[in-house]
Amino acid sequence: MQNTTALPSYLDQSEQVRARFDAIKQRPVILDVKDLCKSYPSHQGTVEALRNVNFQIHRREFVCVIGPSGCGKSSLIRTLAGLETVTSGEILIDGKPVDGPGQDRGMVFQGYTLFPWLTVKKNVMFGLERAGKSKMEAESDALMWLDLVSLESFADHYPHQLSGGMKQRVAIARSLATQPRMLLMDEPFGALDAQTRTKMQSHLLDIWKNIDITVLFITHDLDEAVFLADRILVLKAHPGEVQELIEVPVPHPRSLDQLNSPEFLATRARVDELIHPPVNEEDELDISSRIIRLTNVNDNVI
Ligand SMILES: Nc1ncnc2c1ncn2[C@@H]1O[C@H](COP(=O)(O)OP(=O)(O)OP(=O)(O)O)[C@@H](O)[C@H]1O
Ligand SMILES: [Mg+2]
Repeated sequence: MQNTTALPSYLDQSEQVRARFDAIKQRPVILDVKDLCKSYPSHQGTVEALRNVNFQIHRREFVCVIGPSGCGKSSLIRTLAGLETVTSGEILIDGKPVDGPGQDRGMVFQGYTLFPWLTVKKNVMFGLERAGKSKMEAESDALMWLDLVSLESFADHYPHQLSGGMKQRVAIARSLATQPRMLLMDEPFGALDAQTRTKMQSHLLDIWKNIDITVLFITHDLDEAVFLADRILVLKAHPGEVQELIEVPVPHPRSLDQLNSPEFLATRARVDELIHPPVNEEDELDISSRIIRLTNVNDNVI
């Protein structure tokens, strides 16, 4: 448990941070989500995954979405990607309604989604050639994007020859190569070990600084959300509704020594409070009475 008594409010912003948010709000809206509802039919009845979700993201903003398991994070990103239809409401990208997948949105998922039979370079070339580029153009573009993720020297390797972090860097290069307006990322670093994950977060921020891309990034890691985001969209579960859209008061550029700064800890504490509200003792399950003993009770090793 974090001791929050000495922390400032997460709503306090330095002049520099406030100026940055003022500038962001002046930029054009890239993503506009209006009264989005998403339900799934099931044998047990309708599952309401998202209810009346409203938010906007401005150009070159980095927004993280966080919430308990099953609160509809993947449903949100899949509807934004056009992989699922909306039940009601509207999604606009650059003012145009989303009605299916499109080149204006790139996606990176947690699972490694590279084609195992293609080299790293050909994985990145794939989307470029499909978008109509000649083989030569696609190859030179692919090498440029691989350079951006520092993997140019692995261009002729196959995915199985790469580490988990390297595979995700290729996946990022592949998504960015077709120059989408938005990058939609669903727990992309969820399967990586803690050290690789931290490196990937810094690497992603470096990439984001250097190109014109707007990012929506789903995570269930509180530190990751605060470290990466301009704003954090906190969802609650059953149904998934927006609890709060937090402006992260941690200044840019971000670095690992900010992880213990008062602003960082205050924001983290707020997100924690929203995601893990205090439990009513009467509602708490008596877990001890439910645990099935798998050992002989007389064989007490404790
Ligand atoms: N294709 C589907 N058919 C029926 N119900 C679904 C479907 N996809 C998701 N759901 C339900 O919608 C709700 C939200 O699921 P979703 O996968 O969007 O949550 P999530 O926040 O991404 O969870 P996690 O953190 O575990 O990844 C859950 O109750 C889930 O069971
Ligand atoms: Mg999910």
